[in-house]
Amino acid sequence: MGIAHEKLEKNIGLLALLTALAVSIGGLAEIVPLMFQAEAIQPLPGVKPYPALQLAGRDIYVREGCYNCHSQMIRTLRFETERYGHYSMAGESVYDRPFQWGSKRTGPDLARVGGRYSDDWHRVHLLNPRDVVPESNMPAFPWLAKNQLDGAEVQSHMRALKRLGDPYTDADIAGAPAAVEGKTELDALVAYLQGLGKHAPKGG
Ligand code: HEC
Repeated sequence: MGIAHEKLEKNIGLLALLTALAVSIGGLAEIVPLMFQAEAIQPLPGVKPYPALQLAGRDIYVREGCYNCHSQMIRTLRFETERYGHYSMAGESVYDRPFQWGSKRTGPDLARVGGRYSDDWHRVHLLNPRDVVPESNMPAFPWLAKNQLDGAEVQSHMRALKRLGDPYTDADIAGAPAAVEGKTELDALVAYLQGLGKHAPKGG
């Protein structure tokens, strides 16, 4: 026993190899069960793939880099749940690809912002935040009101998500161009924001 151990400690290559092996086994024991757990996560009641307009809004949210200043992840800490509402659950973001959890909060967390303000408030705020929050340092996004949505593009995103397993029906996809007809990027982003947290569990 003692001799074997001495040999092992004096043979750097073997020691490194066995150390790596031991660490890998430990790592796998932690990671592999999580992989199966992730597949088993069910959407919370009411959580469905984003309707066309909200999906377009979500793409704009990602394109504009809103996640650089806003998280969508309420932690299980009392001061967070008192300010924002129920802590975030995995079953809320099963249709978020990629998820927008984040940890950077230059501005407030947005996971539960849906319904907190009127559509009009969001419009004014996105076009120029200082019009409603004078001390705000959030950038203005004036071009959103000028850009029209492209129905065919939204439709192709829905098709891609369906291929990845999101349960869109053929009718959902066929109806996408009509659902975004005549709408601007601002309309879509506001629809997306107003949907955030709609199916969150109630209470702190
Ligand atoms: C440079 C950082 C920054 C970026 C980028 C940014 N925001 Fe903000 N946001 C803020 C700050 C700071 C506040 C708080 C002051 C205010 O309400 O304007 C805020 C507030 C908000 C609020 C109000 C939240 C509440 O609970 O009162 C919403 C909604 C919002 N931002 C949406 C967005 C969206 C959508 C985008 C992308 C188009 C975006 N923000 C990009 C910094 C940012």
